[in-house]
Amino acid sequence: KRHLLSAADLSRDDAELVLRTAEELRSLADRPIKKLPALRGRTVVNLFFEDSTRTRISFEAAAKRLSADVINFSAKGSSLSKGESLKDTALTLEAMGADAVVIRHGASGAPHRLAHSGWVRSSVVNAGDGTHEHPTQALLDAFTMWRHLGGPTGGLDGRRVAIVGDVLHSRVARSNALLLRTLGAEVTLVAPPTLLPVGIDSWPVETSYDIDAVLPKADVVMMLRVQRERMNGGFFPTAREYSRRYGLDGRRMGMLQDHTIVMHPGPMVRGMEITADVADSDRSVIVEQVTNGVAVRMAVLYLLLGGHEPAGSEPEEA
Ligand code: CP
Repeated sequence: KRHLLSAADLSRDDAELVLRTAEELRSLADRPIKKLPALRGRTVVNLFFEDSTRTRISFEAAAKRLSADVINFSAKGSSLSKGESLKDTALTLEAMGADAVVIRHGASGAPHRLAHSGWVRSSVVNAGDGTHEHPTQALLDAFTMWRHLGGPTGGLDGRRVAIVGDVLHSRVARSNALLLRTLGAEVTLVAPPTLLPVGIDSWPVETSYDIDAVLPKADVVMMLRVQRERMNGGFFPTAREYSRRYGLDGRRMGMLQDHTIVMHPGPMVRGMEITADVADSDRSVIVEQVTNGVAVRMAVLYLLLGGHEPAGSEPEEA
């Protein structure tokens, strides 16, 4: 494949190849020298029109660990503020010889436009577009679940994943719902009716308004932030009511099975959708998700750009 735009682009074989490659690459983190020469001479551009902490840093670390050259471009401080279009920005990147463009954009569909416009010849990776998709987040989430619950092929079959919160605005929820279904897991989306999208019936998921009914059966609980910045007309229910009805606190954590893990894609708002004691508990794999994100993004770049060294080859000496 040349691009990664949607979790729906991935067959089960594709997804498992990414997970297996990430597993090999993750072992690099334990070596004193963490670099591989696989993408030496290649250029990866991080094109971020929206804010990011984890995804941008993670793609940068991933590309550098594969010895690619990395150009970081963020909208702030660029000529975008002077009205430059996505097309002219893309043509500029093409002129600089980008092999891969990792794009985050506030508009749903912007990565698809970039990939299929003919403006660039490079691979395009969707790093989050509007409320649409965030496929590498879903891959790193699946990888984290897979490491805790299953292991290789078939590891997530029949596992129950509860995704709780602002599904309406969540590209993470959509990409996870698609990918986890492909990998055989059963997803339940839990949210107040006001935070579920129109058309949810066509998603490959169950839905519930009742977190307390879902938690005891879940193998994984993924909490989502309420994205108030995407809500023009205010927020219903109120923050206090939301926390009471949908927040994961110590009492609710007590309802989970012994093996159940707690996840959050970040950024999290402690005290809103998750309390600090839960976020910092032994069940929480939130920090590990970030570590796994580097390995998964290495695997994605490696597979898209056709690295010329096997993933397990010797690390760089310099
Ligand atoms: N999970 C995630 O996309 O985080 P950032 O917005 O910090 O990249």
